[in-house]
Amino acid sequence: MGFSFTASLLAGAALAKGVLSAQAIPTEFSGVGGVAANLTYNATGDFNTSTQPAAYTPAGGIVPLEPSPTYAPLSDFDYQSLSLALYHEYFEYDLFNYGLTRFSDEEFDAAGINAEYRHLIRFMAQQELGHIELISNMLGPDAPKACQYKYDFDSVGGFLDFAQKQTQWTESGVYGFLEHLDSRAAANLLLQSITTEARQEMSLRQLQGLFPYPVWFETGLPQSFAWTLVSPYIVSCPAENHKVVWQNFPGLHVVSPPTATNFTNGSYPQYPNGTYMYPAAVSTNRTLPLSLPGQIVEFSWEAPGQPIGPNTSYITNTTAKGQPQFAAWISQLNITYTPLNLTGNNSGATYQPSVHLYNDSTQQVINGSSFVVLTDVALPLTPFNLSAINEHIVAGPAVYASG
Ligand SMILES: *[C@@H]1O[C@H](CO)[C@@H](O)[C@H](O)[C@H]1NC(C)=O
Ligand SMILES: *[C@@H]1O[C@H](CO)[C@@H](O)[C@H](O)[C@H]1NC(C)=O
Ligand SMILES: *[C@@H]1O[C@H](CO)[C@@H](O)[C@H](O)[C@H]1NC(C)=O
Ligand SMILES: *[C@@H]1O[C@H](CO)[C@@H](O)[C@H](O)[C@H]1NC(C)=O
Ligand SMILES: *[C@@H]1O[C@H](CO)[C@@H](O)[C@H](O)[C@H]1NC(C)=O
Ligand SMILES: *[C@@H]1O[C@H](CO)[C@@H](O)[C@H](O)[C@H]1NC(C)=O
Ligand SMILES: *[C@@H]1O[C@H](CO)[C@@H](O)[C@H](O)[C@H]1NC(C)=O
Ligand SMILES: *[C@@H]1O[C@H](CO)[C@@H](O)[C@H](O)[C@H]1NC(C)=O
Ligand SMILES: *[C@@H]1O[C@H](CO)[C@@H](O)[C@H](O)[C@H]1NC(C)=O
Ligand SMILES: *[C@@H]1O[C@H](CO)[C@@H](O)[C@H](O)[C@H]1NC(C)=O
Ligand SMILES: *[C@@H]1O[C@H](CO)[C@@H](O)[C@H](O)[C@H]1NC(C)=O
Ligand SMILES: *[C@@H]1O[C@H](CO)[C@@H](O)[C@H](O)[C@H]1NC(C)=O
Repeated sequence: MGFSFTASLLAGAALAKGVLSAQAIPTEFSGVGGVAANLTYNATGDFNTSTQPAAYTPAGGIVPLEPSPTYAPLSDFDYQSLSLALYHEYFEYDLFNYGLTRFSDEEFDAAGINAEYRHLIRFMAQQELGHIELISNMLGPDAPKACQYKYDFDSVGGFLDFAQKQTQWTESGVYGFLEHLDSRAAANLLLQSITTEARQEMSLRQLQGLFPYPVWFETGLPQSFAWTLVSPYIVSCPAENHKVVWQNFPGLHVVSPPTATNFTNGSYPQYPNGTYMYPAAVSTNRTLPLSLPGQIVEFSWEAPGQPIGPNTSYITNTTAKGQPQFAAWISQLNITYTPLNLTGNNSGATYQPSVHLYNDSTQQVINGSSFVVLTDVALPLTPFNLSAINEHIVAGPAVYASG
């Protein structure tokens, strides 16, 4: 007796279609419920049964039983934040496709990126299509459209390294505003897309033969950091795209340690004969770190007033007072300031800090991709209010690779 696997699959698919298209019976919600947040809430573990909005549901929370959630922006803050995320999703879609077509199969193979891995990257591009659709739907007909981009890598290694850092800052950019969105419903869906992004970032690190996640916590960044980082790569956007509100800070460059040495080479080192030292792997324990705590880090930075971004229609700006005094290292849960010595009009040096996340831990705060800005003062800040640093930034952020 013959058995057709394909036929049974098709039958299953047809069955699933019928099930899915069956009319769902609407559920009656009993209401929104909840009680106002209590800033002096006593965290004892006891709960009050007489204020529960539904069975097995504790009082409080931000509309967890909302009968008709609004998956759309509810303020300028929401719109501009979601729009920023959409700019990044379009960029990633373009970046993955560009990288896949820019290099030949032979070049990918030589870098240890075989057909299976290339398909993984191709699938990442397809995921971006879904993210673009999601955010465009939330923003409506005036949502920004795709732009034209430029890239400055010229090897498979450079492509992977750029894509890895780019997915990291997109992810971090969203973590920075997600919890501040007025539309909790939109935040819900965006979180579900950005966690996919986080997986892409991890896989890209593995394709580079890097340790997959060298941190305990992923960093969150203010929106203007993410906009400053992506803008230099956006050449032009359609005229219908509205201007975005976020700031472009003056560019900051890490002069030393150099990102390309024989051992580090933009996280993707090769032996002199061209063989990659760390081929793609689930996890790699590197004996030669990219950079070390305590080492001197030299920066150069640009003066404000430079045209940048789509159609060079944005101008870099700073509202900091005078010369930078500190380097602010933003990584994991921490904002760490180190004194900056000026060595020229637009150059200075500091030390890579050696700080631990918690006193008793072995985890260095500065590990993986950190973000460095130069500031005029050392404002004590934490992840939830980090954007207060913006008005003190002289230049940055720069993406700093360590570990
Ligand atoms: C907030 O919590 C404190 C401590 O449990 C309690 O004394 C107070 O009544 C609560 N306030 C409200 C508005 O529920
Ligand atoms: C918080 O709960 C503890 C333990 O039940 C109690 O001793 C304390 O008085 C409570 N504090 C407030 C502000 O209600
Ligand atoms: C529980 O909530 C009810 C209704 O708000 C309130 O009257 C009561 O005091 C609360 N009980 C406790 C232990 O907080
Ligand atoms: C940006 O430049 C492109 C290409 O020249 C042009 O089509 C587009 O209208 C410009 N956009 C804006 C906002 O001026
Ligand atoms: C870095 O890697 C690229 C290819 O990924 C290679 O062309 C270049 O020579 C390397 N540079 C150093 C300093 O090893
Ligand atoms: C890097 O490798 C090249 C080729 O082997 C060698 O000539 C050069 O001295 C090395 N540079 C450093 C800084 O090790
Ligand atoms: C390239 O050099 C490395 C380190 O010396 C060696 O392990 C590797 O086998 C060499 N690859 C080729 C293709 O010769
Ligand atoms: C990995 O690196 C750590 C830190 O350098 C070292 O203690 C450990 O022995 C290494 N493990 C392996 C399997 O190489
Ligand atoms: C920077 O922004 C401030 C505040 O909006 C403005 O007064 C200043 O002219 C801007 N500077 C430049 C160089 O655009
Ligand atoms: C700094 O700028 C001033 C004025 O433009 C110039 O005279 C001086 O040479 C510069 N110093 C350095 C170290 O570049
Ligand atoms: C900055 O200057 C101070 C005082 O001269 C010095 O102790 C420190 O080592 C310098 N830092 C760097 C990174 O050069
Ligand atoms: C890093 O942040 C955590 C969480 O806020 C804090 O407990 C820790 O002390 C910070 N570490 C340093 C070195 O500031």
